[in-house]
Amino acid sequence: MKVLLTGGAGFIGSHTAVALLEAGHEIVALDNLYNSSPEALKRVEEITGKKAPLVVGDCTDEKDLRKVFEQYGHIDAVVHFAGLKAVGESVQKPLDYYQNNLDSTFTLLRVMRMYGCHALVFSSSATVYGTNQEMPLREDFPTGCTSPYGWTKWMNEQVLTDCAHADEKLKVVLLRYFNPIGAHESGRIGEDPAGIPNNLMPFICQVASGKLDHLNVFGSDYPTPDGTGVRDYIHVCDLAEGHVAALEYAMGHAGVEIINLGTGEGYSVLDIVHTFERVNGLKLPYQITARRPGDVAICYSDVTKAERLLHWHAKRNLEAMCRDSWNWQKHNPQGYGK
Ligand code: NAD
Ligand code: UD1
Repeated sequence: MKVLLTGGAGFIGSHTAVALLEAGHEIVALDNLYNSSPEALKRVEEITGKKAPLVVGDCTDEKDLRKVFEQYGHIDAVVHFAGLKAVGESVQKPLDYYQNNLDSTFTLLRVMRMYGCHALVFSSSATVYGTNQEMPLREDFPTGCTSPYGWTKWMNEQVLTDCAHADEKLKVVLLRYFNPIGAHESGRIGEDPAGIPNNLMPFICQVASGKLDHLNVFGSDYPTPDGTGVRDYIHVCDLAEGHVAALEYAMGHAGVEIINLGTGEGYSVLDIVHTFERVNGLKLPYQITARRPGDVAICYSDVTKAERLLHWHAKRNLEAMCRDSWNWQKHNPQGYGK
């Protein structure tokens, strides 16, 4: 099938491009390069030996989207990655987040209908589970968010659900990602955050490379085995393969499904630090500091629905996640140099 990847030059989009091309599909990416570099898709071509065309344009702009559908012939399905994703920034600039993350979906849905494209996979987030205490998190649990970013995911899920109910041809899969880390094993593509990273693994990589002098571990008094926060980290290549399975599922099923993509395992901040040190033969200086406002103690997924509907489960372990994250950082200390 031919798949449009909005936000396809980004971290998860570029890894999904590799997985789709390797599974024999064709892709085209639409990205405004706000948080990415065209170099990512050049490297996707280098890894796969296949074409990974990029249209530089904005998903909130109907003209840009129509150009893709006009130029690239019939598109069978879309994965909608395009969005702003920094939780803290979304609190400072809520309107930018609501505008970009919602308008891109509205515009995309309109243009898909114009061109007879009915299958859509959407990048949602475990953040929509809010402060649920019961673990593992199952897709039918109550939802609620703690940031404008989270609410944009929650609202997009509602919009897409309503549209799928109104249009019997529409096939929608809402993927709730847990914590994607790692990089392609070639070390040619990976996560390239702008400025000082907010998330744990990119921060660790910059400490390991000497760009930052130590890691702050946010809280050691959580009700977890070692007191530090527990999360469901998933290798980005497993996540990418989950998208291939979700697209194949969507093509055959009208309506809407919500599916968690995680490993079902929880690891603490110190588990990550110690595994990273062991597999990469490095020392990571760290200090315990206060809890980060808004963090939950524990968050991990129930993965039975992904297994049952998609016949997919994550295969790569924490060692591989830590090794591949560092391999990317080590070989690309300036990321893509954007
Ligand atoms: P990313 O920032 O690397 O990729 C998003 C891409 O979308 C970027 O290349 C950016 O330039 C592009 N973009 C943003 N707005 C656009 C617009 N209006 N038009 C065209 N392109 C636009 O982020 P990522 O980590 O690859 O995340 C992809 C998606 O998954 C996002 O929607 C994100 O919210 C969601 N998600 C990510 C995580 C994570 O931990 N990385 C977790 C849960 C959900
Ligand atoms: C964050 C977002 C979430 C988003 C996810 C993936 C918040 C509150 N949540 O989740 O919406 O879907 O990223 O992009 O930002 N940690 C440290 N030191 C650091 C950084 C993190 O100790 O320098 C700890 C955190 O307290 C947490 C764990 O590491 O326990 C993971 O943090 P992070 O990578 O930021 O992801 P989440 O907070 O789970």
